[in-house]
Amino acid sequence: MPLILALESSCDETAVALYDPDSHQVMEKLHTQIAPHRPHGGIVPELASRDHIQRAIVLIDALFEETGCKREDLLAVGYTAGPGLMGALMVGASLGKSLAYSFGVPAIAVHHMEGHLLAPMLGAQPPTFPFLALLVSGGHTLLVDVRQYGDYVILGESVDDAAGEAFDKTARQLDLGYPGGPALAALAAQGNSGRFTFPRPMLHSGNLNFSFSGLKTAARQTIQAQPCLNEQDKADIACAFEEAVVDCLCHKMLQAAQQTGRDLLVIAGGVSANKRLRTQLAAMAEEAGLRISYPPLGLCTDNAAMIAYAAWCKFKAGQQDGDWAIQTKARWPITEA
Ligand code: KG4
Ligand code: ZN
Repeated sequence: MPLILALESSCDETAVALYDPDSHQVMEKLHTQIAPHRPHGGIVPELASRDHIQRAIVLIDALFEETGCKREDLLAVGYTAGPGLMGALMVGASLGKSLAYSFGVPAIAVHHMEGHLLAPMLGAQPPTFPFLALLVSGGHTLLVDVRQYGDYVILGESVDDAAGEAFDKTARQLDLGYPGGPALAALAAQGNSGRFTFPRPMLHSGNLNFSFSGLKTAARQTIQAQPCLNEQDKADIACAFEEAVVDCLCHKMLQAAQQTGRDLLVIAGGVSANKRLRTQLAAMAEEAGLRISYPPLGLCTDNAAMIAYAAWCKFKAGQQDGDWAIQTKARWPITEA
């Protein structure tokens, strides 16, 4: 049984996975770092690196032990080389390269957002190329024309905060703690639609870019304007914020589909787990006669299964690391992946 081992450590998830290309099966283990960051209300890069160091080898050991897979069956070791937190990336890259070296197999540097982009391929109904992808995570908001594997054209991106970052920052203003995005989404579900209305920045900008930083200002002003902020006020503000972000994402994606003529839409990245986004985009896509594909829910947020799959695609294409130097990139355009 040939296998790809992969490591993901670009941010606050320590994840390891084994992918079997023959059966298309993935086996994975994941540790989400909540405890070290929660007291700080957000991710502290140095604490993230230290936690990855403590967890990664333990997770790999457990993965092999629990699955019964053998080291001798490894074809290659993939690891996230960027973009992400530099120290956190270094942990996965050093470990991935060392393991590959010691097992005598190639090491493969994977672009984190290409991992997200390819995650839907691990679902029950994988999309076929070409398609239009909306990648929405904590660090990126990208509209990408995916012509085929490795051929990506960026059609639009956020000019300031990423969608996930805006969720997290607004959650912090509402004192929802860390991790903020899912907490804000849960609170928004209790909110009354229509009590507050936030702007839809750049909706008619004539291009496919996004802007989300003004929304957190709108949220802050609304929070400050409440004489005594209660739980229902918070829920109503969360609801208005979520509606505004989702509206912007859906409208730009539909515009991009019209411009490119693509009829298959893919959403991936942490924010693609958002229920309102999924529901609204599905409704708009149906009305426009477009098809839509998501990763399985568990593969929307950071995971190593998507890195293993991307590493397999690179392995097939002969794209393995050329030397044993450990190199990571905090910034790395997906068009250069
Ligand atoms: O892809 P991801 O796990 O990590 C990055 O590559 O950044 O995305 C994490 C982002 C965070 O900003 C988080 O708040 C957001 O995705 N997120 C959500 C939801 N689940 C995760 N945002 C809105 N609704 C959700 N259900
Ligand atoms: Zn991610």
